[in-house]
Amino acid sequence: MKFLTGHKGRESQIIDLFTRTFTASEGEEEGTLIGELARNLMGGTAEQDLFVFTAEEDGAIIGGIVFSRLTYPQDDRTVFVLAPVAVATDRQGQGIGQQLLAHGLAALRGAGVDIAITYGDPNYYAKVGFMPISEADAQAPFPLKQPEGWLAQSLTDRAMTTLKGPSRCVEALNNPVFW
Ligand SMILES: CC(C)(COP(=O)(O)OP(=O)(O)OC[C@H]1O[C@@H](n2cnc3c(N)ncnc32)[C@H](O)[C@@H]1OP(=O)(O)O)[C@@H](O)C(=O)NCCC(=O)NCCS
Repeated sequence: MKFLTGHKGRESQIIDLFTRTFTASEGEEEGTLIGELARNLMGGTAEQDLFVFTAEEDGAIIGGIVFSRLTYPQDDRTVFVLAPVAVATDRQGQGIGQQLLAHGLAALRGAGVDIAITYGDPNYYAKVGFMPISEADAQAPFPLKQPEGWLAQSLTDRAMTTLKGPSRCVEALNNPVFW
């Protein structure tokens, strides 16, 4: 297995991974929604606002994760939000997700990102260093339907302290359906 950075020339395979994986786990409607989210993130986000990492084996994409910029205009720290995350259905439970996430988080740290945030299962994301936070610790772009899934980690030596003021996500995520 190898990890690749970026999406150029592989967009349709990456969209397909997200669509198929979420269709299998959550149903067709969610599969289509997350596939379109991946398409819009890759197609409509400025290069400096996006990180895409994939895990590949024998030329096939078996895992994918996307981080996009979350801007806190009143705070000087650099924040990225992780979404979506998928490991191919027939390769789940083999540690691929955790390895890919560790790889991506290390790359963000190397790029000078201060804080990573995500919105998902606290038990799973705790395995790669995310801890529950509240909407008072870091405002989400929209009110959260499942605030218990709001998670963050510092990527620097400084502890995660409250992010000041409201936040703004990239256009692809700028829809309450995702929050
Ligand atoms: C969630 C997902 C990315 C995990 O990737 P993975 O490669 O299967 O997971 P790993 O092998 O790295 O980790 C497995 C561990 O996580 C746990 N785990 C896997 N999926 C989980 C989930 N949805 N919720 C909680 N824990 C989960 C397993 O129990 C296992 O625990 P263990 O190490 O104590 O045995 C993958 O299963 C997936 O793509 N699921 C469908 C799409 C999805 O739900 N994406 C995340 C949305 S927030």
